[in-house]
This record gives sequence, structure tokens and C-alpha cells, in this order.
Amino acid sequence: MTVTASSASRAAEILSRPVALNGLTVPNRIVMAPMTRMFSPGGVPGEDVRSYYARRAAAGVGLIVTEGTYVGHESAGQSDRVPRFHGEEQLAGWAEVAEAVHAAGGTIVPQLWHIGMVREQGDPPYADAPAVGPSGIRVDGTEGTGKAMTRRDLDDVIGAFAEAAAAAERIGFDGVELHGAHGYLLDQFLWAGTNRRTDAYGGDPVARTKFAAEIVAAVRETVSADFPVLFRYSQWKQEAYDARLAETPEELEAILTPLAAAGVDAFHASTRRYWIPEFEGSDLNLAGWTKKLTGKPTITVGSVGLDGDFIRGFMGEGAPVQGIDNLLDRLERDEFDLVAVGRALLQDPEWAAKVLADRFEELKPYDAAALKTLS
Ligand SMILES: Cc1cc2nc3c(=O)[nH]c(=O)nc-3n(C[C@H](O)[C@H](O)[C@H](O)COP(=O)(O)O)c2cc1C
Repeated sequence: MTVTASSASRAAEILSRPVALNGLTVPNRIVMAPMTRMFSPGGVPGEDVRSYYARRAAAGVGLIVTEGTYVGHESAGQSDRVPRFHGEEQLAGWAEVAEAVHAAGGTIVPQLWHIGMVREQGDPPYADAPAVGPSGIRVDGTEGTGKAMTRRDLDDVIGAFAEAAAAAERIGFDGVELHGAHGYLLDQFLWAGTNRRTDAYGGDPVARTKFAAEIVAAVRETVSADFPVLFRYSQWKQEAYDARLAETPEELEAILTPLAAAGVDAFHASTRRYWIPEFEGSDLNLAGWTKKLTGKPTITVGSVGLDGDFIRGFMGEGAPVQGIDNLLDRLERDEFDLVAVGRALLQDPEWAAKVLADRFEELKPYDAAALKTLS
């Protein structure tokens, strides 16, 4: 795909329209995708994190989804440099991030995260905490050192998500995104590969969705009725790129319907390349199917503006600029509502401003060296 003048003028027109997510009006269709950066020692986002997000809001990103931030459960994480969404100092840091983003004209939601069985024994920030998951099974199928969650564990984690969501509203965020994707805790329940439970939380797709739906319901109950609750999910897992939650639209519907009924206001369907059809016989991508099946607003994502997906980026590869005509066509057809941009925005804080002002020729290729700094 080439970058053409016609795609440029269309881009501003199509991407500049505001959109409502429950009580929040997002000023345009451009979302910053959640990206773990590990620049928050002690789990506290500081001045550099604040200006990193504010810079992107000032340059036209309509909605920022923060990097994954751990909920207040000791087994939630594995790093002392990933920001936490509990604790006085941590939340004070986050409050300043939200304030700075608002001052720059943007909107922002934290991505609430529990990594489940991805945790290794002894990992920070709470070295003694065990890894927990639906069945004590890791995404690669091994047993590891974790344990299957008890009733008490389930309740603790549900409570931790609800508390984090309440804190988000209290300290000035515009909503929350629950991280249900990529092989982390919620996805470990959704996926049969890691969920072998024989109680009410395992079995068919609806049963596997029960835990995530209970978290959504608890969050919904804790926050105001118009406070947006977003849910991110994916077919693929960080350690299993070809894994799928749903082989058919019917299976996908069985997972999404209870989540929507529990109170999700918008879905964020995480794919690595947005232009790939999800199921045979239709051109719709995963976000397109999600919108069709639930009627909820959806966010698409995956190699927007870049040629070469982000897994290769993790392995140190760069990616050249790619045009966005296909994306605009899909947006124009209302296949989905918003577009999340990851690496292109990590690389270039001005990405949204350039796209919205038809400055396509100034877009920069992605260079994995951008991961090393928070600029
Ligand atoms: C450095 C990096 C960190 C990421 N961290 C997260 C994360 O914390 N939570 C999440 O849901 N996705 C995470 N992702 C995935 C991105 O949100 C996004 O879905 C992916 O990069 C594809 O978009 P892109 O092709 O525009 O980069 C991360 C991606 C990158 C490159």
C-alpha cells in the first residue's frame, strides 16, 4: 500500500469524528494502545511517564489506554518497574498523569492487569506471592509452580479489579480497560488450553467466561453508571500466536454475550494485523465481528500505519510506514469505531497530529530502539 494524497484528506475527515463510549465522548477515533514500558520504579508513574502520555494527548490522540497496570493482588505482576494501580504513592502518581492528559485535551483510561500464570516464582514486586490461574497451568501447557485458584482467590481478584476501577474514577480517569487478552489471567480463564476447571468456571465457552463476567459485573457495580468499562481480548496469546478462543462466530458470541450483559461498554479486539479477516466467508476483522455480535462500540488494533507486526518488533525488528486506506475504508463502513495505534505512537508522539493534518509524508518508520527511552 502506498501513502497517497487522497488517503490523506480522507483520513482527517474520517478520524476526526467524536464518538461516545457510555458517558465519555472521545474527541476523535485515534486511541493509544496499551504498551508496557517499565519506567515506573516502585510501581509509581513519575514525571517522565506523565509527560510521555500528555505529549501524545496534546498531539491529538483522542483516548489513551495506559500501559497495563497491576491491580492490588500480590500475584498480579512480575516487575517492580511496571506501574501499580493500588497504593497511595502509586495512585497519586496516576492522578497526576490523568490531570496532565486532561490539561492537554485528551481522555485516558488505565488498563487493569493481572498476569496470572505468567508470573514466575520469586518475581517482584511481592516475591513470596504464588502464581495463580484457573488450573495452575501455564500458557505453554506446563504446570509451572503456580496453583489453581480457590474460591477465596477468585473473590480476592474480583475485589482487586473492583477496587482499582473505583480508584480510577475517584482519581479522575475517564473509564477503565480490563486486560482480558494475550494469555494473561482473564484470558487464561477464557481459553480452554489453560482452563481445565470442572467447577462452574470451566467447561464450555460460557462457563469459561464466568470469571471475567463476574469481574465486569463487580466493576460495573462499583463505578458510576455512565463510567465506561472497556474490555480488551484477543484470540492470540503472548506465548501462542496461533491460539484461538473461538473458531466460529457462534463460539465468539458465546464469550462476548455474557461480558456485554455484565456491563462492558466497549470491546477492544486485539489483533496483530487489522486487515486480516477473522472467519471464513466474510471480510470482517475481529473488531468487526465483535461489533456485529454485541452491538457495542469496538476498537481495532494491529499494525496500523506500519508494515510488519509487533511480535517482530519485540524481537528487535523495525517496520516501515504503510498507508491506512484499508483502515479508513473499514471505518467508513462502520465495521468498528476506533483505532488503536501502538508502535507508531511509541515511536512518534506526533503521529496523530500528522495523520489528522494530512502530513503523511512525515510519518516515521518504527525502530525497536524506541523501546529504550520514554520520549
Ligand atoms: C512495547 C509493547 C508493550 C505492550 N504492552 C501491552 C500491554 O501492557 N497491554 C496490552 O494489552 N498490550 C500490550 N501491547 C500490545 C499493543 O497494545 C498492541 O496491541 C500491539 O503493539 C499491536 O499494535 P501495533 O501494531 O500498532 O504496535 C504491547 C506492545 C508493545 C509493542
